[in-house]
Amino acid sequence: MTTDAKPRAGLEDVIVGRSAICFLDGERGILSYQGFDIHDLADAERGVSFEECCYLLWHGRLPNRAELGDLQTQLAAARRLPDPILRAMRMLPPVDGMDALRTLVSMLAHHDPDVADRSPQAQLRKAVRLTGQIAALVATWGRLAAGGGPIDPDPGLGHAANFLYMLTGRRPSPAEARAFDVSLVLHADHELNASTFAARVAAATLTDLHSAIVGAIGTLKGPLHGGANADVMRMLLEIGRDAGPDRAEAYVRARLARREKIPGFGHRVYRTEDPRATHLRRFSKALGERAGEPQWYALSERIEAVVRSEKKLYPNVDFYSASMFHALGIPIDLYTPIFAVSRISGWTAHVLEQYANNRLIRPRTEYAGPAYPQPVVPLDRR
Ligand SMILES: CC(C)(COP(=O)(O)OP(=O)(O)OC[C@H]1O[C@@H](n2cnc3c(N)ncnc32)[C@H](O)[C@@H]1OP(=O)(O)O)[C@@H](O)C(=O)NCCC(=O)NCCS
Repeated sequence: MTTDAKPRAGLEDVIVGRSAICFLDGERGILSYQGFDIHDLADAERGVSFEECCYLLWHGRLPNRAELGDLQTQLAAARRLPDPILRAMRMLPPVDGMDALRTLVSMLAHHDPDVADRSPQAQLRKAVRLTGQIAALVATWGRLAAGGGPIDPDPGLGHAANFLYMLTGRRPSPAEARAFDVSLVLHADHELNASTFAARVAAATLTDLHSAIVGAIGTLKGPLHGGANADVMRMLLEIGRDAGPDRAEAYVRARLARREKIPGFGHRVYRTEDPRATHLRRFSKALGERAGEPQWYALSERIEAVVRSEKKLYPNVDFYSASMFHALGIPIDLYTPIFAVSRISGWTAHVLEQYANNRLIRPRTEYAGPAYPQPVVPLDRR
């Protein structure tokens, strides 16, 4: 081992592997999946559906119509959850949505017909199945948590529209469905973010795919990662629906004066606007107006102006997704699980890539403990 290697806090900017899935340029604000720019993938006319995006991440190219049809059929089949999972869901105490998701995804492994099959074909089948199942799980969990009953999936709806239908019982308008669809595309992958790294580290031990995903879910939950979107909405609610932008400004200035972080701002990689925030800002405004609740966008806009001018920080993916999800009638407890509904595509793509060209991930630490060697003092003399 090289003795002059110096650790970098948080592995900032450290290259730890090669991947063909996602390219990020934090200086120029570029995000691309398999070479496709995120702005093109999210474009109103030329853009892709979440299902096409999944295929792209898993196969490295966009599907043709027949391939897309096959994938849609497989996803629709996976949305019918095994009965024991539905029963387990009802037996859980009233826990946080991410905790429920972690437990239930772990249980899904016991009901997966391919669980012990390590062939690339079986790993891909599990990736597709989990993508369909997690969406159904989160929507159904949301129903039960709100005191309603589960709603059967509608195989005629796309992944995004079906999720909103299974959650709310109402078929979304085309504008709502497309906005949510694009938000799933935007959240689908992000290079070696903390949860994807966790999944790859687990996969590199050659553990099973479900175990790697359970680790990723636990990692996504943290407030420095996916948990920030729920914190953003809690902050907006704390400021108050009728507060107005001036009150939002005073609130944020007070928090910054106390040296508190503002959720939804800053990023380890981006030094400019997060390209995902560009689209989510637009949806937050449009959907807020449609829902007759433009105030959340108005508060958000002012918060962004203050944080940008005071801290030179830009909104990240979690800032405007909060008010957008609120406008779609999604409860706060589901915001981070919805991140997982999308990110399962990226996690599984990375796990498949890791399996295909694996080496155990096992870095080192710089030792900072007591001097070596310490004498072992007998117990009665300590
Ligand atoms: C995303 C995040 C974890 C990146 O962290 P990081 O690269 O380790 O950066 P640091 O936490 O070291 O922050 C660097 C500086 O910017 C400040 N900063 C970073 N994010 C901030 C925020 N959201 N609000 C206010 N100040 C912030 C820090 O206080 C620190 O300032 P200092 O040097 O004066 O102490 C961080 O920006 C953050 O905690 N954001 C809020 C949570 C969030 O939105 N997470 C979702 C990420 S997609």
